[in-house]
Amino acid sequence: MSTATATAAATATTADLEARIRQAPEKFRVMTGDRPTGPLHLGHYFGTLHNRVRLQELGVDVFVIIADYQVLTDRDVADRLGEYMEGMLLDYLAVGIDPARSTVFNHSAVPALNQLMLPFLSLVSVAELNRNPTVKDEIAHSRQSAVSGLMFTYPVHQAADILFCKGNLVPVGQDQLPHLEVTRIVARRFNERYGAVFPEPDALLSDAPLLLGTDGTKMSKSRGNSIALGADADETARLIKGARTDAERHITYDPENRPGVSSLVLLAALCLDRDPHAVAEEIGGGGAAVLKRTVTEAVNSRMAPIRARRAEYARDMGYVRSVLRAGNERANEFATATLDEVRGVMGT
Ligand code: TRP
Repeated sequence: MSTATATAAATATTADLEARIRQAPEKFRVMTGDRPTGPLHLGHYFGTLHNRVRLQELGVDVFVIIADYQVLTDRDVADRLGEYMEGMLLDYLAVGIDPARSTVFNHSAVPALNQLMLPFLSLVSVAELNRNPTVKDEIAHSRQSAVSGLMFTYPVHQAADILFCKGNLVPVGQDQLPHLEVTRIVARRFNERYGAVFPEPDALLSDAPLLLGTDGTKMSKSRGNSIALGADADETARLIKGARTDAERHITYDPENRPGVSSLVLLAALCLDRDPHAVAEEIGGGGAAVLKRTVTEAVNSRMAPIRARRAEYARDMGYVRSVLRAGNERANEFATATLDEVRGVMGT
Protein backbone atom coordinates (compact mmCIF):
# COMPACT_ATOMS: atom_id res chain seq x y z
CA MET A 1 0.00 0.00 0.00
CA SER A 2 1.30 3.47 -0.79
CA THR A 3 1.65 5.94 2.08
CA ALA A 4 -1.21 8.03 0.69
CA THR A 5 -3.53 5.02 0.55
CA ALA A 6 -2.47 3.88 4.02
CA THR A 7 -3.19 7.36 5.33
CA ALA A 8 -6.60 7.53 3.66
CA ALA A 9 -7.52 4.13 5.12
CA ALA A 10 -6.33 5.11 8.59
CA THR A 11 -8.28 8.36 8.40
CA ALA A 12 -11.47 6.55 7.48
CA THR A 13 -11.19 4.19 10.44
CA THR A 14 -10.36 7.07 12.77
CA ALA A 15 -13.82 8.62 12.32
CA ASP A 16 -15.38 5.20 12.85
CA LEU A 17 -13.17 4.53 15.88
CA GLU A 18 -14.15 7.81 17.49
CA ALA A 19 -17.79 6.78 17.31
CA ARG A 20 -17.05 3.34 18.78
CA ILE A 21 -14.98 4.86 21.60
CA ARG A 22 -17.86 7.10 22.60
CA GLN A 23 -20.20 4.11 22.56
CA ALA A 24 -18.06 1.67 24.53
CA PRO A 25 -14.90 3.26 25.95
CA GLU A 26 -14.25 0.24 28.17
CA LYS A 27 -13.42 -1.85 25.10
CA PHE A 28 -10.35 0.23 24.36
CA ARG A 29 -6.89 0.36 25.81
CA VAL A 30 -4.78 3.22 24.56
CA MET A 31 -1.03 2.87 24.40
CA THR A 32 1.10 5.92 23.78
CA GLY A 33 4.22 7.58 25.07
CA ASP A 34 7.30 9.73 24.69
CA ARG A 35 11.02 9.31 24.68
CA PRO A 36 12.62 11.27 27.54
CA THR A 37 15.03 13.25 25.35
CA GLY A 38 14.05 16.73 26.53
CA PRO A 39 11.22 18.78 28.00
CA LEU A 40 7.74 18.33 26.52
CA HIS A 41 6.57 21.41 24.63
CA LEU A 42 3.53 23.09 23.11
CA GLY A 43 3.73 20.84 20.05
CA HIS A 44 3.24 17.84 22.35
CA TYR A 45 0.43 19.57 24.18
CA PHE A 46 -1.67 20.33 21.12
CA GLY A 47 -0.48 17.28 19.18
CA THR A 48 -1.02 14.51 21.73
CA LEU A 49 -1.21 15.36 25.44
CA HIS A 50 -4.53 17.10 25.05
CA ASN A 51 -5.90 14.06 23.22
CA ARG A 52 -4.67 11.59 25.86
CA VAL A 53 -6.54 13.51 28.53
CA ARG A 54 -9.63 13.60 26.31
CA LEU A 55 -9.53 9.80 25.91
CA GLN A 56 -8.98 9.34 29.63
CA GLU A 57 -12.01 11.54 30.32
CA LEU A 58 -14.08 9.42 27.93
CA GLY A 59 -13.33 6.39 30.12
CA VAL A 60 -10.66 4.65 28.01
CA ASP A 61 -7.87 2.83 29.89
CA VAL A 62 -4.78 4.87 28.99
CA PHE A 63 -1.19 3.61 29.27
CA VAL A 64 1.59 6.17 28.85
CA ILE A 65 5.15 4.93 28.42
CA ILE A 66 8.22 6.97 29.22
CA ALA A 67 10.36 5.20 26.64
CA ASP A 68 13.72 5.38 28.40
CA TYR A 69 15.38 2.45 26.62
CA GLN A 70 14.51 4.02 23.27
CA VAL A 71 16.52 7.15 24.03
CA LEU A 72 19.57 5.20 22.92
CA THR A 73 18.18 4.49 19.44
CA ASP A 74 19.69 7.62 17.90
CA ARG A 75 22.37 8.74 20.39
CA ASP A 76 25.22 7.18 22.33
CA VAL A 77 24.37 8.38 25.81
CA ALA A 78 21.10 8.98 27.61
CA ASP A 79 21.82 12.50 28.84
CA ARG A 80 20.00 13.94 31.88
CA LEU A 81 17.63 10.98 31.82
CA GLY A 82 16.42 11.35 35.42
CA GLU A 83 15.76 15.06 34.99
CA TYR A 84 13.80 14.58 31.75
CA MET A 85 11.80 11.70 33.18
CA GLU A 86 10.78 13.71 36.22
CA GLY A 87 9.99 16.71 34.03
CA MET A 88 7.78 14.50 31.89
CA LEU A 89 5.92 13.16 34.90
CA LEU A 90 5.29 16.75 36.01
CA ASP A 91 4.05 17.66 32.53
CA TYR A 92 1.68 14.67 32.41
CA LEU A 93 0.21 15.46 35.81
CA ALA A 94 -0.03 19.17 35.04
CA VAL A 95 -2.01 18.67 31.83
CA GLY A 96 -4.45 16.37 33.59
CA ILE A 97 -3.24 12.78 33.20
CA ASP A 98 -4.87 11.27 36.27
CA PRO A 99 -2.91 8.42 37.90
CA ALA A 100 -6.14 7.00 39.29
CA ARG A 101 -7.34 6.37 35.73
CA SER A 102 -4.18 6.25 33.61
CA THR A 103 -0.98 4.24 33.97
CA VAL A 104 2.38 5.97 33.55
CA PHE A 105 5.42 3.71 33.47
CA ASN A 106 8.91 3.39 31.98
CA HIS A 107 10.55 0.67 29.87
CA SER A 108 13.46 -0.20 32.08
CA ALA A 109 11.21 -0.83 35.08
CA VAL A 110 9.18 -3.50 33.25
CA PRO A 111 11.55 -6.36 32.30
CA ALA A 112 8.82 -8.72 31.03
CA LEU A 113 7.77 -6.13 28.44
CA ASN A 114 11.30 -6.04 27.04
CA GLN A 115 11.51 -9.81 27.01
CA LEU A 116 8.57 -9.96 24.58
CA MET A 117 10.85 -8.39 22.02
CA LEU A 118 12.72 -11.70 21.53
CA PRO A 119 9.82 -13.80 20.21
CA PHE A 120 8.57 -10.75 18.30
CA LEU A 121 11.90 -10.33 16.51
CA SER A 122 11.48 -13.82 15.09
CA LEU A 123 8.31 -12.71 13.33
CA VAL A 124 9.68 -9.96 11.08
CA SER A 125 12.22 -10.11 8.30
CA VAL A 126 15.28 -7.90 7.92
CA ALA A 127 13.87 -6.76 4.55
CA GLU A 128 10.67 -5.58 6.24
CA LEU A 129 12.61 -3.63 8.84
CA ASN A 130 14.76 -2.16 6.07
CA ARG A 131 11.72 -0.84 4.21
CA ASN A 132 10.27 1.13 7.15
CA PRO A 133 10.21 4.78 5.96
CA THR A 134 10.05 6.20 9.49
CA VAL A 135 13.13 4.27 10.56
CA LYS A 136 14.87 5.54 7.41
CA ASP A 137 13.96 9.09 8.34
CA GLU A 138 15.01 8.65 11.95
CA ILE A 139 18.32 7.18 10.79
CA ALA A 140 18.82 10.21 8.51
CA HIS A 141 18.32 12.54 11.50
CA SER A 142 20.29 10.37 13.91
CA ARG A 143 23.23 11.76 15.86
CA GLN A 144 25.16 8.57 15.20
CA SER A 145 27.31 7.73 12.22
CA ALA A 146 26.35 4.03 12.24
CA VAL A 147 22.89 2.53 12.59
CA SER A 148 22.64 0.48 15.77
CA GLY A 149 20.72 -2.76 16.03
CA LEU A 150 18.47 -1.03 18.53
CA MET A 151 17.54 1.67 16.02
CA PHE A 152 16.95 -0.91 13.33
CA THR A 153 14.67 -3.03 15.52
CA TYR A 154 13.01 -0.10 17.26
CA PRO A 155 9.56 -0.73 15.66
CA VAL A 156 9.63 -4.27 17.10
CA HIS A 157 10.40 -2.89 20.54
CA GLN A 158 7.50 -0.52 20.06
CA ALA A 159 5.33 -3.54 19.21
CA ALA A 160 6.25 -4.95 22.63
CA ASP A 161 5.30 -1.61 24.23
CA ILE A 162 1.87 -1.77 22.66
CA LEU A 163 1.13 -5.48 22.89
CA PHE A 164 2.36 -6.24 26.42
CA CYS A 165 -0.86 -4.69 27.77
CA LYS A 166 -2.88 -5.73 24.72
CA GLY A 167 -3.30 -2.12 23.72
CA ASN A 168 -5.73 -1.86 20.81
CA LEU A 169 -5.69 1.86 20.11
CA VAL A 170 -2.61 3.96 19.38
CA PRO A 171 -3.02 7.71 18.91
CA VAL A 172 -0.36 8.70 16.39
CA GLY A 173 0.72 11.29 13.89
CA GLN A 174 1.12 10.32 10.21
CA ASP A 175 4.83 9.63 10.64
CA GLN A 176 4.19 6.83 13.15
CA LEU A 177 1.91 4.80 10.84
CA PRO A 178 4.71 2.58 9.46
CA HIS A 179 5.70 1.73 13.06
CA LEU A 180 2.18 0.75 13.90
CA GLU A 181 2.08 -1.40 10.79
CA VAL A 182 4.99 -3.42 12.25
CA THR A 183 3.01 -3.90 15.47
CA ARG A 184 0.03 -5.13 13.47
CA ILE A 185 2.22 -7.56 11.51
CA VAL A 186 3.77 -8.90 14.71
CA ALA A 187 0.34 -9.40 16.31
CA ARG A 188 -1.11 -11.06 13.21
CA ARG A 189 1.81 -13.44 12.70
CA PHE A 190 2.01 -14.35 16.36
CA ASN A 191 -1.69 -15.20 16.36
CA GLU A 192 -1.38 -17.22 13.14
CA ARG A 193 1.46 -19.27 14.56
CA TYR A 194 0.44 -19.71 18.17
CA GLY A 195 -3.26 -18.88 18.55
CA ALA A 196 -5.21 -15.70 19.21
CA VAL A 197 -3.31 -13.84 21.90
CA PHE A 198 -2.94 -10.26 20.68
CA PRO A 199 -5.27 -7.61 19.27
CA GLU A 200 -4.27 -5.92 16.01
CA PRO A 201 -4.16 -2.34 17.25
CA ASP A 202 -5.72 0.52 15.32
CA ALA A 203 -4.18 3.92 14.73
CA LEU A 204 -6.16 6.85 15.98
CA LEU A 205 -4.90 9.63 13.73
CA SER A 206 -4.79 13.04 15.31
CA ASP A 207 -6.16 15.97 13.33
CA ALA A 208 -3.86 18.37 15.18
CA PRO A 209 -1.92 20.49 12.71
CA LEU A 210 1.86 20.45 12.87
CA LEU A 211 3.30 23.22 15.04
CA LEU A 212 6.57 24.68 13.89
CA GLY A 213 9.30 25.79 16.25
CA THR A 214 10.58 29.34 16.64
CA ASP A 215 13.05 28.77 13.77
CA GLY A 216 10.34 27.76 11.29
CA THR A 217 11.18 24.00 11.32
CA LYS A 218 9.28 21.23 13.12
CA MET A 219 9.05 21.93 16.85
CA SER A 220 11.30 19.35 18.45
CA LYS A 221 12.62 18.60 21.93
CA SER A 222 16.17 18.32 20.70
CA ARG A 223 16.35 21.23 18.22
CA GLY A 224 16.28 24.10 20.72
CA ASN A 225 13.31 25.69 18.90
CA SER A 226 10.49 24.78 21.23
CA ILE A 227 8.48 26.40 24.00
CA ALA A 228 8.44 23.97 26.90
CA LEU A 229 5.24 23.39 28.84
CA GLY A 230 7.21 24.18 31.97
CA ALA A 231 8.62 27.49 30.65
CA ASP A 232 7.52 30.57 32.59
CA ALA A 233 5.74 33.63 31.17
CA ASP A 234 8.95 35.65 30.71
CA GLU A 235 10.79 32.86 28.96
CA THR A 236 7.77 32.33 26.70
CA ALA A 237 7.77 36.04 25.81
CA ARG A 238 11.49 35.94 25.06
CA LEU A 239 11.23 32.84 22.85
CA ILE A 240 8.31 34.24 20.87
CA LYS A 241 10.07 37.57 20.48
CA GLY A 242 12.97 35.75 18.83
CA ALA A 243 10.77 33.67 16.53
CA ARG A 244 11.35 33.89 12.81
CA THR A 245 8.81 35.88 10.79
CA ASP A 246 9.17 37.51 7.35
CA ALA A 247 9.46 40.91 5.69
CA GLU A 248 5.82 41.29 4.74
CA ARG A 249 4.00 43.53 7.23
CA HIS A 250 0.41 42.41 6.70
CA ILE A 251 -0.30 39.24 8.71
CA THR A 252 -2.02 36.37 6.89
CA TYR A 253 -2.49 32.67 7.57
CA ASP A 254 -0.73 30.94 4.69
CA PRO A 255 1.24 27.91 6.00
CA GLU A 256 2.56 27.01 2.55
CA ASN A 257 4.17 30.33 1.70
CA ARG A 258 4.63 31.93 5.11
CA PRO A 259 5.53 29.06 7.48
CA GLY A 260 7.02 31.19 10.26
CA VAL A 261 4.21 33.76 10.49
CA SER A 262 1.52 31.11 10.00
CA SER A 263 2.88 28.89 12.73
CA LEU A 264 2.70 31.80 15.18
CA VAL A 265 -0.86 32.54 14.06
CA LEU A 266 -1.72 28.85 14.48
CA LEU A 267 -0.24 28.77 17.97
CA ALA A 268 -2.33 31.75 19.02
CA ALA A 269 -5.43 30.22 17.41
CA LEU A 270 -4.93 26.87 19.18
CA CYS A 271 -4.46 28.60 22.54
CA LEU A 272 -7.54 30.76 21.98
CA ASP A 273 -9.65 27.95 20.46
CA ARG A 274 -10.21 30.10 17.40
CA ASP A 275 -9.86 29.82 13.64
CA PRO A 276 -6.35 30.82 12.48
CA HIS A 277 -7.69 32.81 9.50
CA ALA A 278 -9.80 34.93 11.82
CA VAL A 279 -6.86 35.52 14.16
CA ALA A 280 -4.64 36.59 11.24
CA GLU A 281 -7.29 38.90 9.86
CA GLU A 282 -7.73 40.62 13.18
CA ILE A 283 -4.00 41.32 13.46
CA GLY A 284 -3.75 42.33 9.79
CA GLY A 285 -1.68 45.51 9.45
CA GLY A 286 -0.50 45.30 13.05
CA GLY A 287 2.48 43.36 11.75
CA ALA A 288 4.89 41.04 13.52
CA ALA A 289 4.93 43.10 16.72
CA VAL A 290 1.18 42.75 17.31
CA LEU A 291 1.32 39.12 16.18
CA LYS A 292 3.99 38.29 18.72
CA ARG A 293 2.21 40.14 21.49
CA THR A 294 -1.01 38.27 20.67
CA VAL A 295 0.76 34.90 20.65
CA THR A 296 2.60 35.57 23.91
CA GLU A 297 -0.57 36.58 25.71
CA ALA A 298 -2.52 33.64 24.29
CA VAL A 299 0.14 31.07 25.24
CA ASN A 300 0.68 32.50 28.69
CA SER A 301 -2.99 32.64 29.58
CA ARG A 302 -3.75 29.19 28.17
CA MET A 303 -0.76 27.67 29.96
CA ALA A 304 -1.15 29.56 33.26
CA PRO A 305 -3.30 26.95 35.04
CA ILE A 306 -1.14 24.11 33.70
CA ARG A 307 2.03 25.84 34.84
CA ALA A 308 0.54 26.57 38.24
CA ARG A 309 -0.36 22.90 38.70
CA ARG A 310 3.09 21.89 37.48
CA ALA A 311 4.75 24.12 40.08
CA GLU A 312 2.51 22.69 42.77
CA TYR A 313 3.42 19.09 41.90
CA ALA A 314 7.10 20.07 41.72
CA ARG A 315 6.94 20.94 45.41
CA ASP A 316 6.01 17.32 46.15
CA MET A 317 8.42 15.16 44.18
CA GLY A 318 7.87 12.31 46.62
CA TYR A 319 4.31 12.08 45.37
CA VAL A 320 5.39 12.45 41.73
CA ARG A 321 7.82 9.54 42.05
CA SER A 322 5.15 7.43 43.73
CA VAL A 323 2.94 7.91 40.65
CA LEU A 324 5.62 6.27 38.50
CA ARG A 325 6.18 3.50 41.04
CA ALA A 326 2.47 2.63 41.09
CA GLY A 327 2.30 2.80 37.27
CA ASN A 328 5.29 0.48 36.98
CA GLU A 329 3.67 -1.94 39.37
CA ARG A 330 0.51 -2.12 37.25
CA ALA A 331 2.52 -2.35 34.02
CA ASN A 332 4.54 -5.22 35.50
CA GLU A 333 1.36 -7.13 36.33
CA PHE A 334 0.19 -6.86 32.72
CA ALA A 335 3.61 -7.66 31.28
CA THR A 336 4.13 -10.72 33.47
CA ALA A 337 0.68 -12.08 32.66
CA THR A 338 1.21 -11.55 28.91
CA LEU A 339 4.69 -13.10 28.98
CA ASP A 340 3.31 -16.13 30.83
CA GLU A 341 0.62 -16.49 28.21
CA VAL A 342 3.17 -16.15 25.39
CA ARG A 343 5.40 -18.79 26.98
CA GLY A 344 2.41 -21.04 27.40
CA VAL A 345 1.31 -20.96 23.79
CA MET A 346 4.87 -21.13 22.47
CA GLY A 347 5.73 -24.02 24.77
CA THR A 348 8.86 -22.24 26.06
N1 TRP B 1 8.16 6.16 19.38
C1 TRP B 1 7.41 7.13 20.10
C2 TRP B 1 8.05 8.51 19.89
O1 TRP B 1 9.20 8.60 19.54
C3 TRP B 1 7.36 6.84 21.60
C4 TRP B 1 6.82 5.50 21.88
C5 TRP B 1 7.49 4.45 22.41
C6 TRP B 1 5.47 5.05 21.65
N2 TRP B 1 6.71 3.38 22.53
C7 TRP B 1 5.46 3.70 22.08
C8 TRP B 1 4.33 5.64 21.11
C9 TRP B 1 4.29 2.95 21.97
C10 TRP B 1 3.18 4.87 21.01
C11 TRP B 1 3.15 3.53 21.43
O2 TRP B 1 7.38 9.49 20.10
